[in-house]
Amino acid sequence: MPESVTITDNRTGESVEVPLVNGGIDAKAWKRLLPGIWMLDPGFSITASAESAITELDGGNGILRYRGYPIEELAEHSTFLEVCYLLLNGELPGETQFDSWVHDITHHTFIHENMRRRFYEGFHYDAHPMGMMVSAIAGLSTFYPEAKNIDDRDNRFIQINRLISKVPTLAAMAYRTSVGMPFVYPDNTLSYTENFLSMMWRIAEPNYEADPVLAKALDVLLILHADHEQNCSTTAMRVVGSAHADPFSAAAGATAALYGPRHGGANEAVIHMLNEIGSYDNIPAFIESVKAGEGRLMGFGHRVYKAYDPRARIVKNHADEVFKVTGRNPLLDIALKLEEIALSDDYFKSRNLYPNVDFYTGLIYQAMNFPMDMFTVLFTMGRMPGWLSHWNEAIEQESRISRPRQVYVGPAERSYVPIGQR
Ligand code: CMC
Repeated sequence: MPESVTITDNRTGESVEVPLVNGGIDAKAWKRLLPGIWMLDPGFSITASAESAITELDGGNGILRYRGYPIEELAEHSTFLEVCYLLLNGELPGETQFDSWVHDITHHTFIHENMRRRFYEGFHYDAHPMGMMVSAIAGLSTFYPEAKNIDDRDNRFIQINRLISKVPTLAAMAYRTSVGMPFVYPDNTLSYTENFLSMMWRIAEPNYEADPVLAKALDVLLILHADHEQNCSTTAMRVVGSAHADPFSAAAGATAALYGPRHGGANEAVIHMLNEIGSYDNIPAFIESVKAGEGRLMGFGHRVYKAYDPRARIVKNHADEVFKVTGRNPLLDIALKLEEIALSDDYFKSRNLYPNVDFYTGLIYQAMNFPMDMFTVLFTMGRMPGWLSHWNEAIEQESRISRPRQVYVGPAERSYVPIGQR
């Protein structure tokens, strides 16, 4: 059977056979065979913007794999830093490679003192930590002007290392700034997540010892967020990167995209929603209001998953371990009941709306004492290796600058009218 589709232009009666490549239409062939016919696809629901070898997502079957490895296996056996290496390099590291990678990441966690003293202190007392993150990540590019030499692979990997190392420091600093606490410097004797927890929570104790269950749970959550192919923020990263901006500026763009409640901000929105529902009794009325189009069930639905998000299942399984240490989050019962009702309701079933990763992560973060406005910051830490892997892949592919078409629907030509005559 030929791998092609035949398209007839009913205006002229002409038919052309358009070849399929990997099951889709190659835009170059389309352009050659059907010149002048655009694809109008706002939101890119049927447009593949890249060929990528990083993450495989089969939304219909609820499958997620990084470089071929199932997310379930990585969450169970790997660590966040190993997953970072895998995403960036394509293969799991050997022991020597891993030791050297961990050493490099651990020893680049400090940031320039001006960043803390002059930059962070300039934020208003109630600045949202994500606003600080967007600015601080962009600000880092001014400390590393060589980052713009994006054609040099070694240089690219130095900047990648810096971003992965320093993002937890920036994140913890954003939190400490927002609560008026003194900044805690990184501790190179600790693991990636333990060090982050130390920078977040340490007060006067000489050494901060994170609870191993909580450090492990956070590490797993970072793994689950590490990549998700061409989502909104990764697309932002690739689009900004396609203009050959330096990786700090591109990552700031990606962080800004993640800030939105439809994307990384959804876990925070879930907690607001659960608080608003307040009790079991209010769940049916809430579900009815969602069905009437008065709002969305936050943490439900996904552009790509039309089955249960595999990450949500892993998070749900980890929640119990975390709650054994922290105490049960009282909102969990409302979430479980909401899920049960939604999964048996035709509105949600017919639209393939299932819990996504954000439905349960907020509950865990809240139980671990993270304030709600830090939830998306944690997502930023997790997604950084994914963004950087895509940025690097796009540069190595010598991709073209991103520049979609538009269909103009505005006024036809008209003449300028001086202000006094309008
Ligand atoms: N609650 C109620 N109805 C929904 C929801 C929801 N959460 N999500 C989608 N729908 C309905 C929507 O109203 C529409 O119905 P109809 O066909 O009658 O108009 C239908 O389902 C399709 O929705 P859509 O807006 O075309 O779907 P989308 O692919 O553009 O949106 C989404 C995907 C994630 C933005 C959306 O499902 C949503 O807003 N969910 C809530 C926010 C959320 O949890 N976001 C986190 C996403 S996962 C983390 C990440 O990867 O960033």
